[in-house]
Amino acid sequence: MAQHQHQQKQQQLENVLRSDFVWGYATAAAQIEGAWDRDGRGPSIWDTLAHAGGKIKDASTADEATRSYDFYKQDVALLKQLGVTAYRFSLSWSRIIPLGGRQDPVNQLGIQFYNNLIDELLANDIVPFVTLFHWDVPQALEDRYGGMLDQVQYTPDFVRFATLCFEQFGDRVKNWITYNEPGVFSLAGYAAGVHAPARSSDRSLNESGDSSTEPFIVGHTELVSHAIVVEIYRRQFKPVQGGQIGITLSGNWSEPWDAEDERDQAAAERTRQFDIAWFADPVYRTGDYPQCMRDQLGDRLPRFTTEQSKLVLGSSDFYGMNSYTSFYVKHRDSSPDINDHKGNVDILDHNKQGVRRGSQSDTYWLCTSPWGFRKLLNWIWQRYQVPIFVTENGTTVPGESKITHVTANSLHDTFRINFFTSYLDALAHAVAEDGVDVRAYFGWTFCDNWEWAAGYTDRFGVVFVDFDTPEKKRYVKKSAYVVCDIFNRLIK
Ligand code: GAL
Repeated sequence: MAQHQHQQKQQQLENVLRSDFVWGYATAAAQIEGAWDRDGRGPSIWDTLAHAGGKIKDASTADEATRSYDFYKQDVALLKQLGVTAYRFSLSWSRIIPLGGRQDPVNQLGIQFYNNLIDELLANDIVPFVTLFHWDVPQALEDRYGGMLDQVQYTPDFVRFATLCFEQFGDRVKNWITYNEPGVFSLAGYAAGVHAPARSSDRSLNESGDSSTEPFIVGHTELVSHAIVVEIYRRQFKPVQGGQIGITLSGNWSEPWDAEDERDQAAAERTRQFDIAWFADPVYRTGDYPQCMRDQLGDRLPRFTTEQSKLVLGSSDFYGMNSYTSFYVKHRDSSPDINDHKGNVDILDHNKQGVRRGSQSDTYWLCTSPWGFRKLLNWIWQRYQVPIFVTENGTTVPGESKITHVTANSLHDTFRINFFTSYLDALAHAVAEDGVDVRAYFGWTFCDNWEWAAGYTDRFGVVFVDFDTPEKKRYVKKSAYVVCDIFNRLIK
């Protein structure tokens, strides 16, 4: 069926992005570093989940991952070769404070590793963008008090970790991200129970948890602790260090299933708000959750105190935007399920006319849908009016996960080339024609890596990794060169 109906031929734009636009690739510590128990590192909830077995698709662990802990110098050299001007990576909390808590000892070898990485990047003129938290809560904090479920105990521990990082790295790191995708962390870890710490109401899947309350409690903890950390950075560090700090939110575009039906239009908007405004409204717009969430969730949605609300509103210098795909959304006539987190809708692959949302990747939820990316950039810009940094965007390629050894052919990732070409085209048009203020872009991701519950079966990299070799040999895919060419054309 008219699968590509959305993709219109548009004129190729040039020199439409700011001259100070930065671009590169994003990674996360747990997905690449390996060395999970070396040089004093403590375990995180993801090490525990993988080692317990049964939850990772290929039964793998991240014990080695891409071994970037060992090969960071080669990785920086490779990033340089790919032409990037920036690199987004995350810090492993339990490498820096193995037990995680505010009174627990600091691991100097962990600090040393990140100092080395930061220095290597700067020596190569690559700007570091550092994420404090990309899903890897120290296991000791999970054991002590249930991690983020206990906002009172957790917050000072996160504050101490963040403050230590500003002290140690802030002389050279000028771009900070507190949390990566608080929504996905909450929903996948506490509603679906498929990510660490693997909690949900479904007793056939998880031993404990409550999908109807815990995701919202955890989301609240993330928002409040984020805001406290930002206030500290702005007061104590920014005057001297002069950097910027913000949060990265996940969000995909929701399009009405029947564009003519007001109930589907309302449903799509409600889903955007459950998906995105859940975190973005408190931070950028109102200091509170969207009304449609309060209406559906009632007291299961926590409330901000006046003080928290003031702290949260305005607590991000930029909009960190992670986006991959788009969905069709159809209203439901029934009343919402207690475990619903999407605004009581059906999420579909086709619209009323049978048009598919895009070409299917190797990842079940991910279809190439640049048409929605442009709409989403506009929706975010109009609703929040802060500069957008795209902090993640990318795809897997059909069949690529089955390739274990590299051949010249397997590095010709045409599907990924089409993805990046069409999304960057959408971005350029959003900037040039719609006036959206976009200042940075990070592709997901640099090397193929350990893709959480999918293990090594989802290859998202612009660099192929041969996981069977002891040194996790890297081979550049064609898309990496295409992305570089596109930015050379687009940036003034
Ligand atoms: C994001 C996440 C990344 C990566 C990506 C692809 O949600 O932040 O770590 O896994 O999805 O699935």
